[in-house]
Amino acid sequence: MSALRLFMLFLWLAASCAAADSAPADNVSSGNPSRTVLSRMTWLREEIARHDRLYFRDAAPELTDFEYDALCAELRSLEKAFPTAVLPAANAGAIADDHSPHFSRHRHRVPMLSLAKTHTTDGVRAFCDAIARLVPAGANATTPALFTVEPKFDGVAVSAVYENGKLVRVLTRGDGQQGDDVTANARRITGIPKALRDSVGETLPRFVEIRGEVYCQFSVFEKQNRALGAAGATPFASPRNFAAGTLKLHDPDEVARRGLSVVFYGTGAVVPDLNGVKTYAKQLAWLREKGLPTVTDTVEAKDAASVMDALRALGKKRSRLPYPVDGAVIKVNPLTLRQQLGSAADAPRWALAFKFPPDRVKSVLESITLQVGATGTITPVAQLKPVRLGGVNVQRATLYNPANITRLDLREGDTVFVERRGDVIPAVTGVDLSLRPATAKVFAFPEKCSTCGMPILLENNGAIARHTNPACPLRIIQRIKRFVSRPHANIAGMGASTTQKLIDAGLVREIPDIYKLSRNSLLSNTRMNAASVDKLLAAIERSRHAEHWRILAGLGIEDVGVSTARKLLTHFGSLRAVATADRPALETSGIPPAAARAIQKFFANKVWSDFAGQFPPPRPPE
Ligand code: IVH
Repeated sequence: MSALRLFMLFLWLAASCAAADSAPADNVSSGNPSRTVLSRMTWLREEIARHDRLYFRDAAPELTDFEYDALCAELRSLEKAFPTAVLPAANAGAIADDHSPHFSRHRHRVPMLSLAKTHTTDGVRAFCDAIARLVPAGANATTPALFTVEPKFDGVAVSAVYENGKLVRVLTRGDGQQGDDVTANARRITGIPKALRDSVGETLPRFVEIRGEVYCQFSVFEKQNRALGAAGATPFASPRNFAAGTLKLHDPDEVARRGLSVVFYGTGAVVPDLNGVKTYAKQLAWLREKGLPTVTDTVEAKDAASVMDALRALGKKRSRLPYPVDGAVIKVNPLTLRQQLGSAADAPRWALAFKFPPDRVKSVLESITLQVGATGTITPVAQLKPVRLGGVNVQRATLYNPANITRLDLREGDTVFVERRGDVIPAVTGVDLSLRPATAKVFAFPEKCSTCGMPILLENNGAIARHTNPACPLRIIQRIKRFVSRPHANIAGMGASTTQKLIDAGLVREIPDIYKLSRNSLLSNTRMNAASVDKLLAAIERSRHAEHWRILAGLGIEDVGVSTARKLLTHFGSLRAVATADRPALETSGIPPAAARAIQKFFANKVWSDFAGQFPPPRPPE
């Protein structure tokens, strides 16, 4: 195959994979973008970076994969239309960093890349056809098969490094170039052998990086998550989050208890090369022979049509698989062809991920309840007849906002469609009108809070419902719950039920009271035993050393979310400095004026400025 032909193929493949997912290009002519477009691009970049952090580092995503992909596609299409506005660092949808402080980093010898992806079968066909065109006519009929198709596990990518057969290190993907060293935890995961199996007459590689995915089986997830909730911790939203959060614990014994699984699907650097391993299918067989669990559902496919058959079969089987799968991976089987194809900046050209459409089931909308958030936003929640969705039981789904209920014309008693896309909580996405009973009841959005009686305001034509009383007991509970949750103060042992107990006992009336709890008051006013009390107090003490932006974003100040809090801390260095800054100083940190106003008003209250002063200055970066 000529170098020119290969080069043309690279260009074509890159374009076709990007096109498979991009939103249609905006109807704009190339040139200098307007200020509106520029500010939209800035917003998109910040938003994508924020969601990357939430997903990769905090294991607490807010968007579905589809919503996230739409943001990336929009930015990509704007960058295409306005090449002058492309920042050198603009890298939307490429590999984000899962690095967590307190884990040391280590370089991968061969970078850990991401996968090009498509949501359409046309995208898959284009990929397969382009690869098939590279192979001389007639060669397709011979073995080995040109492609393999296998499940895409929804977990956390890891690289296990073995030297002379001994496990020396396990790294997360990190930023693709260097990952977090999670060896102590990974050693406690069944399935990651401490040593590779030594076969007679064969020497093991001096150095090998073995790539795979740590994930959690549905049954384990349900059991473990229930146990976490019962022990007072915040449960995880999905098996993927559970796996990601567990891998970054500082407690290998707890990692062992949580029962994660692992599957391996490839290698990075191998020294010396594995002679005789010429295909992916053979590579998997080698990994299995060495005692590593590999993907067992890999199917070989000779051409695009067989790839499509395999995709269909996997799609059908998907809901019966005991582990979370969010798509299929189509890979080139012959390894020399892979080498010729090489890699683009963030993904190899020899593989493509096909993302399955979101899981969707029908259920009955029994009633609509309201949930007040820490900052006062009210979210309507669908209470559903229990239904199995994406491997787990679902009884509640978000309805997002009042306008959405009107748009979908939802009534209590309706049969509705419920979807879970990726990691986030399930949502009601439609109604089956043919099944609407005569008794279906229109939902009247209340005008007042049933607890404090203060008005509820509808803004933006009902796209936002806002509670107007920050002192309402409902809001206080939510503020406390949000504050102690994993992305914020991360106080283990203070989940929903413990929080409620502390409030009921009158020990905690606002966030600052958490730091006034004593062993005596807990033992004499709650039914907690001494061990739980000590554990809780230790977790509270630890939270004093949380990154200050997490504390600030956890306070539920209107307009102060994670990205604003991070900006403020980067600028001011400590929570105390933010709390004592005046309005002009706050605005120079680049946060919106509304946020500056809200912060100043908040910390004008001595309770909160004293609270801010309690947090020791952050440790210098490692
Ligand atoms: S192959 C160069 N095979 O999906 C990357 N990846 O979204 C080659 N993943 O980074 C990866 N199941 O963490 C491969 N069967 C599978 C996979 C798989 C899950 C993950 C992997 C990858 C991510 C991309």
